[in-house]
Amino acid sequence: MWFVLRDLVFSLAILLLLLGTSCSSSFVKTENKIKSAAFLSPKFELEPGSVIEKYYYDIDFPKGHIAIKSFNAEVVDEAGNPIPLHETYLHHWVVERYYQSKHPTQTRHDGQKIPENSGNVMVRNNGICQGNKNGQYFGLGSETRGTTMDIPDPFGIEIGNPEQVPEGFEEIWMVNIHAIDTRGVEDKLGCTECRCDLYNVTVDEDWSSIRPNYKGGLLCCYDDTHCKLKEGFEGPKRSLYLKYTIKWVDWDDFIVPVKIYMLDVTDTLQLSNYSEGLNSDHDCQVEYQVESCSTDHKEGNGCVHVKRTSLPLKTGGYVIYGVAHQHSGGIGSTLYGQDERIICSSIPSYGKGNEAGNEAGYIVGMSTCYPQPGSIKIIDGETLTLESIYNNTKEHTGVMGLFYLLIAEELPYQHFRHSTRSSFLMDVNNIFLDN
Ligand SMILES: *[C@@H]1O[C@H](CO)[C@@H](O)[C@H](O)[C@H]1NC(C)=O
Ligand SMILES: *[C@@H]1O[C@H](CO)[C@@H](O)[C@H](O)[C@H]1NC(C)=O
Ligand SMILES: *[C@@H]1O[C@H](CO)[C@@H](O)[C@H](O)[C@H]1NC(C)=O
Repeated sequence: MWFVLRDLVFSLAILLLLLGTSCSSSFVKTENKIKSAAFLSPKFELEPGSVIEKYYYDIDFPKGHIAIKSFNAEVVDEAGNPIPLHETYLHHWVVERYYQSKHPTQTRHDGQKIPENSGNVMVRNNGICQGNKNGQYFGLGSETRGTTMDIPDPFGIEIGNPEQVPEGFEEIWMVNIHAIDTRGVEDKLGCTECRCDLYNVTVDEDWSSIRPNYKGGLLCCYDDTHCKLKEGFEGPKRSLYLKYTIKWVDWDDFIVPVKIYMLDVTDTLQLSNYSEGLNSDHDCQVEYQVESCSTDHKEGNGCVHVKRTSLPLKTGGYVIYGVAHQHSGGIGSTLYGQDERIICSSIPSYGKGNEAGNEAGYIVGMSTCYPQPGSIKIIDGETLTLESIYNNTKEHTGVMGLFYLLIAEELPYQHFRHSTRSSFLMDVNNIFLDN
């Protein structure tokens, strides 16, 4: 009886609330204005052929309990001019979330200060690669200027919630920037694909020798390596920045949080061995190699290289946004559900000109998916299949096949019901009990 009554009271309360709000404006609060700001990373210097791969911690970022609505970036010079990809190839930028100790040193009993071992703790996205692999909140590469990432209302990525930050820590952000100056290089595509012969390296960044059949990829184009220049080419060193633009709104209960998932086509998770929820079972490699069709003996397939992997998503939800990340040579990537329905297909567009944002031969944008919220649902435990397709008329080294998904576990009306139930019902119950 009590429960029936409570539900009745609850329904009435909702009805009154809905009537009340529909008089003033609408269901979704509109006075929560989108704020926007552009920031510059620390300055980095590049000269023809050189590479930077930097990790900048505690970068400028909006503060407070907010919902991110959009994030994008590009490389600019000191005057703020956009730099085209054929001069500075933006291999990737990746933004990660951390909890940083407010007291990075601890004092020993003898008075000596020693560093706290748990200085920075990465707060990874919701998955699904092993450890912290592909744990970023945001990140793109050459396609950054032409790829939209605006999260529709009333959804957003919740950050800065003081209740989630552990005692003694604060939330900070890190950007990893990997850029290659290809002015005057002998082989622009080869340099951007990090072909080891062009970088003349035999050991990786940690001085471990690179296995002989590794032709190219991140192991060969780390910070401070150089790609082969044309004989006698000289050009000025210059100072550049990653300019990143963030849009956000202040947090409120009407915002429906989305979770970030990053799938990787190189993930070799064995479904037969998958112990539910363990991301240590995943094995994302991030990069892979595409053999040319003349050497992989698959003539007649039109020189198209298809790579697939199947991955279960422990917790599903409603797809709000999806986009793939591919490198030059990519011709598209599709994510399928267990019943082979298409969840999202993301296709690269190539530039045709010379100016920044339209550089011929480079991927300058990826198409995105914005399904009508509620129309595409991934069920809990559903096995998704990710497919990444490259043109392999020529071989490609160090390519990627990533898929970024924003998933809401509730739709706005469900979220509204849950978030009001606790606080609102408490008042209703109090009145009820008092009587
Ligand atoms: C390549 O590296 C080797 C060993 O570090 C060096 O002796 C050689 O001069 C380099 N070649 C070029 C073309 O830079
Ligand atoms: C599954 O796990 C078992 C035991 O850990 C291991 O021996 C086997 O090779 C694994 N199989 C696959 C397909 O990974
Ligand atoms: C692959 O690229 C070659 C040129 O490099 C082009 O002729 C061919 O049409 C492309 N194939 C596809 C399927 O895009």
